[in-house]
Amino acid sequence: MLRWNVDLADERWQSDKTANKVSESLLAGELVAIPTETVYGLAADASNPVACAKIFAAKGRPQFNPLISHVASLDDALQHGHFNEAALETAKAFWPGPLTIVVPRKNSSSICDLATAGLPSVALRVPSGPVMRFLAKHTGRPLAAPSANISGKISTTTAAAVEHDLGTHLSYLVDAGPCSVGIESTIVAFVDDTPRLLRPGGLSRGAIESLLGRPLETAETVTQDAPQAPGMLTSHYAPEAGVRLNASHVNPGEALLAFGEQNLEGSEAACAVINLSKNANLVEAAARLFAAMRELDACGAASICVQGIPEVGLGEAINDRLRRAAAPRP
Ligand code: TXA
Ligand code: MG
Repeated sequence: MLRWNVDLADERWQSDKTANKVSESLLAGELVAIPTETVYGLAADASNPVACAKIFAAKGRPQFNPLISHVASLDDALQHGHFNEAALETAKAFWPGPLTIVVPRKNSSSICDLATAGLPSVALRVPSGPVMRFLAKHTGRPLAAPSANISGKISTTTAAAVEHDLGTHLSYLVDAGPCSVGIESTIVAFVDDTPRLLRPGGLSRGAIESLLGRPLETAETVTQDAPQAPGMLTSHYAPEAGVRLNASHVNPGEALLAFGEQNLEGSEAACAVINLSKNANLVEAAARLFAAMRELDACGAASICVQGIPEVGLGEAINDRLRRAAAPRP
């Protein structure tokens, strides 16, 4: 695995010679880990089925799960999907950003069937993380990228976590530092007249609802037996430790994922404590969630207890991930 260290504060990163090599790897059908503002992605050329198959193999992901294709702009997205008025309005308002839009796939799209899992729809995203957009433009290809973690495990928000999970499968790991949003994109489907929230994520439901002037329908949670989307599996994002939600006290030896100022009873006996946000700031909490879970898991506790987090704004996505982490494992 080779590395490309990108300093986003220095504009010259785009003319770094390594950029060409990373593009060549992608065009040759190899896997490259690429950061976005949400999480790190395990990227491959979405028009190349062999390259996409490598994604599934590396993640150990069940084949029936479709992938998100990342493109550089709304114009590029329009080559792949049919956007109705609401989809277009939403894309214009929130792209680039932590939002994935599912629309009917255009027959002329170059995105391969393996990337869409043979569905008549396609999931498209223009991330605000500039490296993914840059590489999509540089290669001229849509880039399929699920979160860069082993299937079912916690998503990665740092290059170190990516290397730990997937290092041996990568031709390049692009390191642009920790992800600013830290939780995956919100997924909204516009496949008929009813916009549906398929996965809460880094863009709050309320922001989309106030733009569209109507509530988003919520897709039902899918059981382990009939999954539609990995992020929709009841058990997902699972650390090695068990997860206990809405804790009002800490059991001896448990690790504590804290939130806010209130000190939980028993926290002095915790094996490790991480506070997602002492000021109860949900944006900060989302950004730190996955790294905190990985770090607490590494302390070896049998259980991670989690202080209650309000179900507002990004709290919906944070609680969604925590509930899946706590769900009975298959
Ligand atoms: O923030 C993110 O979305 C990250 C970064 C890398 O962009 N990616 C990510 O991908 O979280 P992944 O594969 O872990 O989750 C993609 C989700 C899955 O739940 C998948 O089933 C759903 O998108 N999806 C993809 N295509 C779909 C489609 N046509 N219809 C419904 N769901 C779809
Ligand atoms: Mg994922």
